[in-house]
Amino acid sequence: MGMHSFGNRANAFVTFAVTILAVMCSLASLSDNFNVHTPTADVKVFNINWFQKQPNGNDEVSLTLNISADLSSMFTWNTKQVFVFVAAEYETPQNALNQVSLWDGIIPSKEHAKFWIHTTNKYRFIDQGSNLRGKDFNLTLHWHIMPQTGKMFADKIVMTGYRLPEEYR
Ligand SMILES: *[C@@H]1O[C@H](CO)[C@@H](O)[C@H](O)[C@H]1NC(C)=O
Ligand SMILES: *[C@@H]1O[C@H](CO)[C@@H](O)[C@H](O)[C@H]1NC(C)=O
Repeated sequence: MGMHSFGNRANAFVTFAVTILAVMCSLASLSDNFNVHTPTADVKVFNINWFQKQPNGNDEVSLTLNISADLSSMFTWNTKQVFVFVAAEYETPQNALNQVSLWDGIIPSKEHAKFWIHTTNKYRFIDQGSNLRGKDFNLTLHWHIMPQTGKMFADKIVMTGYRLPEEYR
């Protein structure tokens, strides 16, 4: 066997390896395109710290939340980081959807994608009016997946059935 045929075999091997890599990449981006994410999240209101009508007439409430989530499935070879936020969503006579962001964070890697935190609302929960007494609301966990290449992807999990107290406290 001369140098020539060895060179051919090495070449064939490189071609084969490149083909495998291309197939793997297209499978990975295919799975990325289908967004086969199976995140789980749970947000509980641990405590209503206080609930007041401000002198300007707006309602404000301070909450302590238990937030737990497993966003590991969002981390593929193509995920740079995931931006996540928790919002309170409710209806008022003025607006069909009021969305107030209560907490947010950046998940830098799969190792940090499964987390649990116990926190007071990082951003103020204020209603521009006095609409919050006895108000039904949803808590939503939204995410924006920032890819290495391609389009950003956003979605949310809605948790229903929360209600604020009837009285200020
Ligand atoms: C929230 O977390 C605390 C621990 O800090 C735990 O004692 C409590 O049971 C949790 N509450 C809810 C409503 O899950
Ligand atoms: C909460 O979410 C459910 C399901 O998406 C929706 O039907 C309902 O209108 C929402 N409730 C509020 C108060 O926004």
